[in-house]
Amino acid sequence: MNDQLATIFLDNWSIYQRIITFNYMRHKEFAAETFNVFNKLEVKEPLEILDLGCGDAQPMTVQLKQLKVGSYTGYDLSDTALEFARLNLQPFDCKIALRQGPMQTLIHQERGSFDVIYSSYAIHHLLDDQKASLLQDCYNKLSGKGCLIMIDLLRDKNESLHHYIDRYIDDIKNHWVLLSAQERELIYNHMRQYDFPAVKDDMMAWASKIGFLVEESPVNDGLNKMLVLTKP
Ligand SMILES: C[S@@+](CC[C@H](N)C(=O)[O-])C[C@H]1O[C@@H](n2cnc3c(N)ncnc32)[C@H](O)[C@@H]1O
Repeated sequence: MNDQLATIFLDNWSIYQRIITFNYMRHKEFAAETFNVFNKLEVKEPLEILDLGCGDAQPMTVQLKQLKVGSYTGYDLSDTALEFARLNLQPFDCKIALRQGPMQTLIHQERGSFDVIYSSYAIHHLLDDQKASLLQDCYNKLSGKGCLIMIDLLRDKNESLHHYIDRYIDDIKNHWVLLSAQERELIYNHMRQYDFPAVKDDMMAWASKIGFLVEESPVNDGLNKMLVLTKP
């Protein structure tokens, strides 16, 4: 499944870049909120940052401009996305490591710890038991007072996966008007095959059980949500 997923993003990366440009998934609002989280961090700079499913790293470059960063590590399945990431990260004067592969495997190979683990629109590709294990792995790799910032597709309480995906697709049909019908059809097919958003309350319960302090960001358009999970 992972190889197919990588190919889909390899073939259609330009569609995703335009989705970001048109702000269809609220990248701008989530960026502003992420900036607030960075501002309130109680960890020592320079920051060590890990980005899970970084894609072309565009959302993180918005943050890096305003932070003191010691290192940025990004994981992604897609080599093509990582090539774009390498270019986007060129202006930054910190240690950069980009690793190709599944985040749920790569995180086990990390020796050091991170002050911030960030993941934007990637964790919903994992199955629920993988998501819960990944949360535990993130907790283990975070320094004290460090946090996991998760921006993602998350279902409402008692909402079936099928119902959520149908709601998302309706939203695309109604609002993503600057993409062609064919491009939108590709996205629907991708979502029906590869997207497994968790129920938000389940994700929060798994995180609390692990020991995270769990906060939900006010930026929530009913489909896309943000959680901030802090290690006490
Ligand atoms: C929707 S894009 C998000 C990219 C970027 N984080 C952003 O918000 O713009 C999802 C990314 O997650 C990557 N991805 C999906 N499953 C993954 C996994 N198991 N391990 C690593 N990367 C994964 C995909 O290759 C893709 O680049």
